[in-house]
Amino acid sequence: MYEQISHSLLNDILTKLDPEIVRQPKMRHFYTRLGANFYAIHSMFRRLYGERSDFNTQMQRLVETMASQYIARSEYLKESDLQRERDHNWFLSQQWVGMALYSDGFADNLQGLQAKLHYLQELGINMVHVMPVLDCPPGKSDGGYAVRDFRRIDSRIGSLEDIDALAKAMHKRGMLLTLDVVLNHTSDAHQWAVRARNGESAYQDYYYTFPDREIPDMFEETMVEIFPHTSPGNFTWCEEMGSWVMTSFHSYQWDLNYSNPSVLIEMLDIILYWANHGADILRLDAVAFLWKKIGGNCQNEREAHRILQLLKGCCQVTAPGVLFIAEAIVAPIEITKYFGEDAINAKECEIAYNATFMALLWDAVATKKTELLNRGIKSLPDKLERATWLNYIRCHDDIGLGFDDADIRLAGYEPTAHRRFLVDYYTGNFENSPARGQPFGQNEKTGDARISGTLASLVGLESALETGDPQAIDTAINIILLLHSMILSFGGIPLLYYGDAIGTLNDYSYQLDESKCRDSRWIHRPTIDWEKAEARHQLGSVERRIFDGLKTLIAVRKEIPAFADFNSRELLDIDNPHLLAYAHFDHENASSSVLVVGNFDTVPHSIDLEMLQKKGFFTLGSIRDLCTGERPSIFNNQLAIPAHGFYWLSESRSA
Ligand code: GLC
Ligand code: GLC
Repeated sequence: MYEQISHSLLNDILTKLDPEIVRQPKMRHFYTRLGANFYAIHSMFRRLYGERSDFNTQMQRLVETMASQYIARSEYLKESDLQRERDHNWFLSQQWVGMALYSDGFADNLQGLQAKLHYLQELGINMVHVMPVLDCPPGKSDGGYAVRDFRRIDSRIGSLEDIDALAKAMHKRGMLLTLDVVLNHTSDAHQWAVRARNGESAYQDYYYTFPDREIPDMFEETMVEIFPHTSPGNFTWCEEMGSWVMTSFHSYQWDLNYSNPSVLIEMLDIILYWANHGADILRLDAVAFLWKKIGGNCQNEREAHRILQLLKGCCQVTAPGVLFIAEAIVAPIEITKYFGEDAINAKECEIAYNATFMALLWDAVATKKTELLNRGIKSLPDKLERATWLNYIRCHDDIGLGFDDADIRLAGYEPTAHRRFLVDYYTGNFENSPARGQPFGQNEKTGDARISGTLASLVGLESALETGDPQAIDTAINIILLLHSMILSFGGIPLLYYGDAIGTLNDYSYQLDESKCRDSRWIHRPTIDWEKAEARHQLGSVERRIFDGLKTLIAVRKEIPAFADFNSRELLDIDNPHLLAYAHFDHENASSSVLVVGNFDTVPHSIDLEMLQKKGFFTLGSIRDLCTGERPSIFNNQLAIPAHGFYWLSESRSA
């Protein structure tokens, strides 16, 4: 019934379309896709905004926004949309290996980055998340996430032409470009905020503003503080407007009000704008926060999901080849909802950060045990078929310890004490800890804290190089490789972090910068020292040992079809609290199945081969480690895994 109504509604909208749009040639694919998605789009839009008197006008604007951006989309990108529609699962392939980087830290600016694409290719990277490039007020940028103009590139790192050229150069090399869209908030210096402050009520409606503390106080009873240390509370007083403005993140980041359809349409337009500038993937920032409700923590609300479904539906019409990444650093059960529920294809975001796996890996390194890691992976809900994880070890943000309290207890620890141990361990305040991290986001009221630091410094490379202890250096390098072997084999797109492939240490210079010194995340947003990076070609250097190790792993990953993310992973119960083992079964060809095993302990461990054989492995021939191409260490029918060692094992074909 509703479908019929929506059909006539669509006709209604089409007859009222701007003549400029109607006149356009070559709109066939647009109208077909609009027809196919209209029901979903309209019903979502109605659920969110159906009560409003201007609903029809807003719906018309929504369609015209999709149409105008379709008209602006280049033939080249339209062709790529069609190809991706045909090769529907293209992004699930094991061929993709990503890296996130700040273009200025990596290579001064966007042109520098383009000139360094060969370095990324040398390593095997073919997806690059170029961290925020847009104009932000200097000193109040939150690392690019406090945007002043969503369509202007920060002049210090380049221009729109540079982005276009970069996208083109990357596509020629078969690389994917990922850009950010910061959906949840703007800088308080954004035009909309400026106009709101100047008294324009239409723009005051873009934000959440309150004349007194009544509502803010109610909100704050249940909202969490994201930056308790630097921006306590969730509201900021604006003298000019005489109102409290909701600011969940920093006091200079004003939360956008998505109960206003104009906000949603503006942001859709921005999403499509960057899709049209060649972004293959858009990272949607802080998506859990998009809807606010009194009485909750203002994360993961059902309406936040509807907004994402709507944005996806609209993107499907205009730029169907473009994927979304959900940056939702929330509980595992909540994260998977950002793919969309009850579906096969992602209805919201095709890709989501696997923050659970990331944090659990850090737990395993500190405890040298895998109990919590195993439990956490076990309770990671199944994802949709056409959706995938972004698996990472480090990124530009802190490491939050958001695992489940019940899981921590089952692993035999007391949650508060265990989290305190982890923070102490990684900040080097625990006996014998070689880590050199720093605390982040300490909350005196709740006792919570998170962790900053580069991968190399957190696993002890910084302290090892200082003492010059060769064994400690080996250990740090081994842990770096072990962790990468996990994200490269887990299933999903591995996302490396710039600098990690050459063992980049903490950068303490942020402490001297007044605008950065209270935000320890800057410690792990390095400027790459390219002279030092050259050492990756020097035999025996630390840089070379890491870089070459990763380069090999990446190349091998790409050759293992079982690593494509078709939900083939099974956790193996091998009854050893220091090991993690999972297998990717290739049901069509058993000899292509791969068994991954990693040892998080400082001493070797072994697995009984007979037990593995009972589980269906290596029954035919001999075993080969795909990483080295050699037979792994076996003694008395026991597979031996060295301290911080790992294998990607398969049946040897020659046997
Ligand atoms: C995202 C970013 C983080 C930023 C926050 C606020 O989570 O990753 O760096 O501080 O959003 O925009
Ligand atoms: C919280 C937020 C995340 C943000 C991060 C910044 O984890 O959920 O969106 O990036 O804080 O530290």
